[in-house]
Amino acid sequence: MEKSSAILWGGATCASQYEGAWQAGGKGMDTQDCRPYIFQKDQATTRTRLLNRAAIDQAKDPDSSAFYPFRQGSKGYEFWQEDLDLLAELGLDIYRFSISWARLFPNGTEKEPNPEGLAYYDRIFAYLKAKNIKVFLTMYHYAIPLNLVETYGGWKNRKVVDYYLNFARTVLTRWGDQIDYCLPFNEINTGYFSPFNGIGLLKDDKGEYNEEDIFQALHHQFVANALAIKMGRQICHAKFGSMVAFFNYYPYTCKPEDTLKLIQEEQRHQWYFTDVMAQGSYPYYMEQYFRSHGIKLERTQEDLQLLKTYTVDFVSISYYQSSVISTDETDKTAGNLVVSTKNPYLTATDWGWQIDPIGLRTALNKMYDRYHLPVVISENGFGAHEQLDSNGQIHDQDRINYLADHFKQIHLAVEDGVDVLTYIMWGIIDLVSAGSCEMEKRYGVIFVDADNLGRGSYRRVKKASFDWYRNYISQQKGVSHGS
Ligand code: BG6
Repeated sequence: MEKSSAILWGGATCASQYEGAWQAGGKGMDTQDCRPYIFQKDQATTRTRLLNRAAIDQAKDPDSSAFYPFRQGSKGYEFWQEDLDLLAELGLDIYRFSISWARLFPNGTEKEPNPEGLAYYDRIFAYLKAKNIKVFLTMYHYAIPLNLVETYGGWKNRKVVDYYLNFARTVLTRWGDQIDYCLPFNEINTGYFSPFNGIGLLKDDKGEYNEEDIFQALHHQFVANALAIKMGRQICHAKFGSMVAFFNYYPYTCKPEDTLKLIQEEQRHQWYFTDVMAQGSYPYYMEQYFRSHGIKLERTQEDLQLLKTYTVDFVSISYYQSSVISTDETDKTAGNLVVSTKNPYLTATDWGWQIDPIGLRTALNKMYDRYHLPVVISENGFGAHEQLDSNGQIHDQDRINYLADHFKQIHLAVEDGVDVLTYIMWGIIDLVSAGSCEMEKRYGVIFVDADNLGRGSYRRVKKASFDWYRNYISQQKGVSHGS
């Protein structure tokens, strides 16, 4: 790909966290529809990232008293036009969204897609085209038709690759010419940390996962990624990318053991995935890990050739926080997917995610240095508790500060020479948290009037950050990398 001339400024949602309407228009039940909201002290738990058979049975029980937030999402299925009007008013260059697999293929196994599902996305693509907003499409953002988990055991089963490709073929054939950038898989390293969300794997009866299943499922996703790229190159002109949650680890001290541990965790948590998808083969350190842990994967010669041939055009990261590695007992704090040591130099969000704008510049440099491919920030944002004030407004100055500080570092990374293609703000419209199923963990510049139990009008309200981001984007128009 040619070096990009200017950064595209965007925003993102994804089907399972935003659309709701879990049974409307013929949609089938998917894995995210099964995750209940579980209140725990002053914050919901991330325990529902890891489900077992009993939890699925409970979710399918029509008499279940639990509340399932993804079934409502932000009611985007209903509010889509108002939302896209707001995104157009913001002046977004690019919108990242995903297609619900179960809305097109309710059981995952149908040969032909559900016409009502197609019609819903037809309207979205047409609207974006009319408004000249580029499309950044995520094909798989966690939710998988439940039937593929119940019948086949999720991604650990090779057959799911075929069903995914049927879904991908529908998407690329119908809308490929309107897709600018395509991510076959959101945050592919999620499968490692959060197997239910990432690879549709249920915990066994002992409440555990089999590590071999996890790596086999990830291998199937790598193969599906390569085959989707192969298909895409035949059908359309979209550019294809990889994505990982980026942790940007620091060693807690200069003790050699801390750095050694850092390198090993960074390899397994973060590099391995992009190495396979951008460099086209399994890295030496993973082969060694598989050997030393007795993990035997089914990988054919044909698979390995596919991985080598169909590598990505760009690499992408979600970046919310940096993390710290220590070999000692230390004070821990949460982050996206990982728990890590507290960094005494940083502040954190209400959820403990450590705010580190400079870390983003570091992350971008690391990615570009390693892969020499354009880098996309496919997610970044500030999750916070927010309520309408007595004038019905939200003054989210903390979010504005977070964004301004991160944007400054993105420009500095560009000055460093990094080819930054796009910045995508996560949860541009408030939506349900993928980690903890909370509606009240808000990322948007657009507020959605609903609480953790789905109570509220779902009315949309522009936050102060809406005007701030709109001004920022308009000032950036025409600012090239060289100016
Ligand atoms: C990323 C996911 O992990 O982080 C999103 O791709 C998710 O789906 C985002 O929403 C923020 O995480 P959380 O747990 O705050 O929703």
